[in-house]
Amino acid sequence: MNSKKNLVFIGMMGSGKSSIGYLVSKKMNIKFIDIDNLIENETGMSISEIFEKKGEDHFRNLEEEITLKTLKNIGVAISLGGGGFVNNNIRKEILTNHFSFWLNWDELVLLKRIKGSKKRPLALKLTVQEIKQLIKKRSKIYSKAQFKINCNKLTKTEIVKKIIKIYEPN
Ligand code: S3P
Repeated sequence: MNSKKNLVFIGMMGSGKSSIGYLVSKKMNIKFIDIDNLIENETGMSISEIFEKKGEDHFRNLEEEITLKTLKNIGVAISLGGGGFVNNNIRKEILTNHFSFWLNWDELVLLKRIKGSKKRPLALKLTVQEIKQLIKKRSKIYSKAQFKINCNKLTKTEIVKKIIKIYEPN
């Protein structure tokens, strides 16, 4: 990797940020950091437990602190939680200093993946209609990412190849 910038993967829950981020990091031989995993390791609690016992605001504060700290790395792949890029401080830092990739999927694909997901406390409490609204609202924010990857018709391998191809000339 010839850049000090990090590669940051953003998108809705269920968009494959962790698995794609991991695969890209393997291909590029760089370190991979998953923010949700890091939050779980640092707190000793699962994301669901944090939401349940400490509340969403507490989770969002932790998310901001840990994400900004992680962005101080150099040349690593980072997968954000679905709400990370919604945070103004996190978004500003990413847009100013890093490469960002939005993994974009059709609403129906995302809905199928996240509705009723037990490890996703936010999705669990929302109705189908509310999830659709969240996807719409968040997509406006995700669309500020530097690169948008339309994933629907692609295999995982093709998505990874596309990301590396975009990144390499930079
Ligand atoms: C959230 C997404 C989750 C996790 C938390 C909140 C969100 O991460 O950070 O449950 O607000 O979209 P994934 O996108 O990895 O599921």
